[in-house]
Amino acid sequence: MDLKIRDLRVLVTAGASGIGLATARAFARDGARVYVCDVDAAALDALAASDPGLTRSACDVADPVSVGHLFDTVTSALGGLDALVNNAGIAGPTAPCEDVALRDWERTLAVNLTGQFLCAQRAIPLLKASRNASIANLSSAAGRFGFPNRTPYAASKWGVIGFTKSLSIELGPHGIRVNAICPGSVAGPRIDAVFANKAALRRVAPEVVRDEAIAKTSLRRLVSADDIANAIVFLASPLGANISGHALPVDGDTQALV
Ligand SMILES: NC(=O)c1ccc[n+]([C@@H]2O[C@H](COP(=O)([O-])OP(=O)(O)OC[C@H]3O[C@@H](n4cnc5c(N)ncnc54)[C@H](O)[C@@H]3O)[C@@H](O)[C@H]2O)c1
Repeated sequence: MDLKIRDLRVLVTAGASGIGLATARAFARDGARVYVCDVDAAALDALAASDPGLTRSACDVADPVSVGHLFDTVTSALGGLDALVNNAGIAGPTAPCEDVALRDWERTLAVNLTGQFLCAQRAIPLLKASRNASIANLSSAAGRFGFPNRTPYAASKWGVIGFTKSLSIELGPHGIRVNAICPGSVAGPRIDAVFANKAALRRVAPEVVRDEAIAKTSLRRLVSADDIANAIVFLASPLGANISGHALPVDGDTQALV
């Protein structure tokens, strides 16, 4: 299928690894011009060898000054913007609510929610000048279900959906569509760490938590970073031109989180 995204100008935050990198590669594979940022400068440097086509710079999306520099650079590198992928997000602490440190709560909200706000604020004027403009905000299955012992993360990801639905109404008249993507458990090192943290708290083996998570999906499997990337690219393409205001689960039909 030709997604008709050749020369689409795309910014993917936290694009040096995981879902962000899979998304950047998926856009680039179909001819888009992709800029990635990440807080991990070493991981970005590694892209010079593996993905020389991706333009890149370091940015902490929770820092307004850093986001300002990012958008100055993106604007001159791409000459505008058609698609913002607000992907940066951290897992935050795994602990009962009464044991969560305030600084961990605040950092999780700052990266996962304020970071999306800061990037959207700077992207909107650029997107208003585009003829195929979209924003994809990474939420989570934890933005649809309660997630015990992950209150900062779940609160941030429910917040992303409220932000997305409000922004889609605000920006619809400007031709800008805004959707949230709600990945389930994505196979990879991040989810392995999440399972390990939950297992340590419950004093069980990580495999127990992993098997329980899989059992809560109708399709009985984890999803892949490419599954998420494909959904994001489709929504940013002209084929997704009339889809806005949604929170799209890509999660093997998850019924609950453990
Ligand atoms: N992996 C999953 O199972 C899963 C499930 C649901 C939702 N998500 C969401 O998908 C998004 C990507 O997750 P992932 O699994 O690819 O994560 P990951 O941990 O594999 O990669 C995250 C990247 O974000 C970067 N990063 C961290 N803090 C940053 C900051 N302040 N500014 C810029 N970059 C920063 C890291 O350096 C890293 O490169 C996140 O928003 C996450 O919450 C992931």
